[in-house]
Amino acid sequence: MTPISPDAVIGVIGAGTMGAGIAQVAAKAGHPVLLYDAFEGAAQKGFDGIKKGLNKLVERGKMAQADVDALLSRITLVNGLEAFAPARVVIEVIVERLDVKQSVFSQLEEICADDTILATNTSSISVTAIGSQLKRANNLVGMHFFNPAPIMKLVEVISGLDTDPNVADAIYELSARWGKKPVRAKSTPGFIVNRVARPFYAEGLRVLQEGGADEATIDAVIREAGNFRMGPFELMDLIGHDVNFAVTSSVFAAYFNDQRFLPSLIQQDLVNAGHLGRKSGRGFYNYSADAEKPTPATADTAPAPHHVTIEGDLGVAEPLVALIEQAGISVSRAKEGHGAILIGDTTLKLTNGQMTTVRSAEARNSNLIHFDLALDYTTSTRIAISAADQADNESLLKAIGLFQAIGKAVTVIDDVPGMIVMRTVAMLANEGFDAVNQQVCSEADVDIAMKGGVNYPFGPIEWANKVSLTVIQNVLDNLAAMYGEDRYRTSPLIRRKVAGGM
Ligand SMILES: NC(=O)c1ccc[n+]([C@@H]2O[C@H](COP(=O)([O-])OP(=O)(O)OC[C@H]3O[C@@H](n4cnc5c(N)ncnc54)[C@H](O)[C@@H]3O)[C@@H](O)[C@H]2O)c1
Repeated sequence: MTPISPDAVIGVIGAGTMGAGIAQVAAKAGHPVLLYDAFEGAAQKGFDGIKKGLNKLVERGKMAQADVDALLSRITLVNGLEAFAPARVVIEVIVERLDVKQSVFSQLEEICADDTILATNTSSISVTAIGSQLKRANNLVGMHFFNPAPIMKLVEVISGLDTDPNVADAIYELSARWGKKPVRAKSTPGFIVNRVARPFYAEGLRVLQEGGADEATIDAVIREAGNFRMGPFELMDLIGHDVNFAVTSSVFAAYFNDQRFLPSLIQQDLVNAGHLGRKSGRGFYNYSADAEKPTPATADTAPAPHHVTIEGDLGVAEPLVALIEQAGISVSRAKEGHGAILIGDTTLKLTNGQMTTVRSAEARNSNLIHFDLALDYTTSTRIAISAADQADNESLLKAIGLFQAIGKAVTVIDDVPGMIVMRTVAMLANEGFDAVNQQVCSEADVDIAMKGGVNYPFGPIEWANKVSLTVIQNVLDNLAAMYGEDRYRTSPLIRRKVAGGM
């Protein structure tokens, strides 16, 4: 395979949201770009959109006018597929329909050179299926950009069953040269990002459905304790429930109804009602001008305790000890025990995936309070806690007072297994490890994909390792026990790593 030279002609078919952005990326990298759209005026509209966006960069002093002019001069609008004969790579960015994509690629095969690389930006269709009608399916590869293509760093390079590894390598290298962060994945439903991200929405929806907390509270905990840029409900409202529900439903169906990917009735209801999110003015939140923005549940001020005892090692929550000391609360440590903060007869523990009430009953310790996972206990500004049904109100107040004393906004949620951040992170990691276990991609690529494609603050796999895989496995096993659902089955790869002491 001859390498793709920096001045190779790149063809882009489809000049909509993604096609125009991809044409811009290729032209910025110095390639002559051919841009085509089947619909009258659409290619010009796409080109005008690129120009408008670049002019804004000039106004803000981020790009020189001369560079913009040069970039735009490299894009040629063409009137038919015949014009793609000189292209070294053709990227298809048209409507998400298997039959239409197959037809376009079959025509291209007759027009382009034998070694022209055919790339598809499909987000959900099997690359193997798109290639099934081709004479040279080995030349077809997935090149999955994220929206907006000029800004988002991630490109998933997807190999179908017949894709030549050299073709995938060439597109991987080309993406890197274009300033992107490519990852490799086998063509499987959802590829990496749209598969591994499912629990981010699904676990929030489960907590909401079970009355653990309301939308604004879950969003705030995910943002302020989990350090995600957006909570699941505000993000689903932004994406649009029609789009998000369709992705979940298609991944669920594509995995033959694996319960891992079970869609939510709450989201189906929103779609049925036409409450599609921001674009329709209402989703989980109301976007009308006079609507009041709901605030997250935050506990009233409670007195700080004077003394706590730390039993054993708090693991990932160990930074809390220094914060408690800095807050002027006296701390004594007991080597015995499995990681607990004691305030008198009240016990605080990091959630282990059980309901607090169940763990409390098993331990014969009625005054048990769970606290949730935070990405960084030192810098996070909020923490969620939940009390066992048996616990007295005094215990809850002691826990609230302690976390407030170290500067956290405290959210008391109802007793749901695994709380909010912990169950979300455990399930994201579970899905990431399962993708690796099923030979879809590497561990490193899971983390690159989730940080580059959906802006996660930490890769799910590095996050799970930071928490400790033993803890994550325990949380997943307890979620499975609490729910009795196949959805929470632990990935064999997590079990293997824990057993192997990694
Ligand atoms: N929008 C996203 O966030 C996103 C992200 C990643 C991947 N994708 C994928 O990219 C592809 C395009 O998505 P989009 O959001 O840019 O859609 P879009 O509707 O904005 O643009 C698609 C363009 O393709 C043109 N088109 C349709 N059929 C054509 C044909 N047969 N020949 C030539 N042009 C044709 C349309 O006129 C339109 O301009 C889809 O496969 C989609 O799944 C979308």
